[in-house]
Amino acid sequence: MIGHVGDTVACRVCGGVVEAFLDLGAQPISQRFRDPADGSPEVFFRLAVGQCGSCTMVQLCQEIPREEMFHEGYPFRSSGSRAMTGHFTAVAERFLETELTGPDPFVVEIGCNDGVMLRTIRRAGVRHLGFEPSGDVAEAARAAGVRVRGEFFEEATAARAAEAEGPADVVYAANTVCHIPYLDSVLRGVDALLAPGGVFVFEDPYLGDVLARTAFDQIYDEHFYLFSARSVRAAADRFGFELVDVERLPVHGGQVRYTLARAGARRPAAAVAELLEEERSRGLTDEAVLRGFATRTARVRDELVAMLTALRRDGSRVVGYAATAKSATLLNFCDIGPDLVPFICDTTPAKQGLVTPGKHIPVRPPGEFARPYPDYALLFAWNHAEEIMSKEREFRRAGGRWLMYVPRVHVV
Ligand code: SAM
Ligand code: TMP
Ligand code: ZN
Repeated sequence: MIGHVGDTVACRVCGGVVEAFLDLGAQPISQRFRDPADGSPEVFFRLAVGQCGSCTMVQLCQEIPREEMFHEGYPFRSSGSRAMTGHFTAVAERFLETELTGPDPFVVEIGCNDGVMLRTIRRAGVRHLGFEPSGDVAEAARAAGVRVRGEFFEEATAARAAEAEGPADVVYAANTVCHIPYLDSVLRGVDALLAPGGVFVFEDPYLGDVLARTAFDQIYDEHFYLFSARSVRAAADRFGFELVDVERLPVHGGQVRYTLARAGARRPAAAVAELLEEERSRGLTDEAVLRGFATRTARVRDELVAMLTALRRDGSRVVGYAATAKSATLLNFCDIGPDLVPFICDTTPAKQGLVTPGKHIPVRPPGEFARPYPDYALLFAWNHAEEIMSKEREFRRAGGRWLMYVPRVHVV
């Protein structure tokens, strides 16, 4: 089967040879929560990740059809996190103050979800358009007054939008470009849509942070690419763009915001060369470094399973907190089911009452967390740790402890 360590596939960006360095096993669609009574077979794929020997792009070895992931019932809501809502409001405000100050400015967002960013743009009365193929979340954005095309962004849909709306000053995407295997089509689409002096800005999980934190659960079906400055620069170069700025972001466990402009249109910021140099000195794309990450991943799995097994033996109660997409990778790779984690609390209405993909752990509203508090809460949304721990302060006061597995298994 494709995807075992050492197997090779063709690079989705440049056609080079991608060699798998980590095999996370058979995995379900990460956000396909299901009815507990549903006995129909689940879709599984092989989750292995490799690096291209030519352009260094880190990518999955198997592509999952986009309609399997992004459809009417896609449950993820960007506005579910207060911290992320603040983050996207700040993104919009910064665009309004910088790139969108000309006459009749226009901004396009790829993967606008429930309109968390574009709402602020709309309130400012600035022309905008979101691309959002997942029906329910697109509807939530429309309900907030945001203009949305219910389509996948790609070359053809972008060209149609360009024809209808004219050139965009900014094309923006958060946590979406890395979800799209057809990056070639996306970059051609941006080429069709972007004004000559415009920018394409996107932010996604950063390879450097994933490796530093051994955050292997950042690898799942939707995260097809794991970008670095080096691989993004190579992709930009292939399609007539230039990487002109990079910014490290603390959100979602460590991201980078990349700014692309048409080649030669803007002078690259010093941060680009600095990050490229940092990646070089860390050996971020060295095979040995990637294999070291794979070794640490196996260690985290073994330690976490040993810890949960010991807690069960001692009669301690463990509950999961936040049924993230990331948790699908963790649970299925570690083979953790309801025997070790009887249920997971999550605020997302569309997940509650269902069971997790693959391991079939029930998802319940957060209200059930305190009835009574467990001894340990396994925190799957470690990227929202601050927000969740401050909301659940009472849990620790009652003697409960958070069980974490990033960057290593530990209790707080
Ligand atoms: N931007 C939001 C954020 O950061 O919270 C949403 C991120 S969510 C993980 C990814 C979103 O991208 C989903 O709402 C999905 O439907 C959408 N998406 C996936 N492929 C897309 C494509 N080709 N064009 C536009 N949106 C896409
Ligand atoms: P994410 O890590 O992909 O952003 O997913 C976050 C998940 O965590 C989502 O299912 C909602 C859930 N969540 C809670 O249950 N409580 C919270 O306070 C927060 C911020 C998120
Ligand atoms: Zn390549």
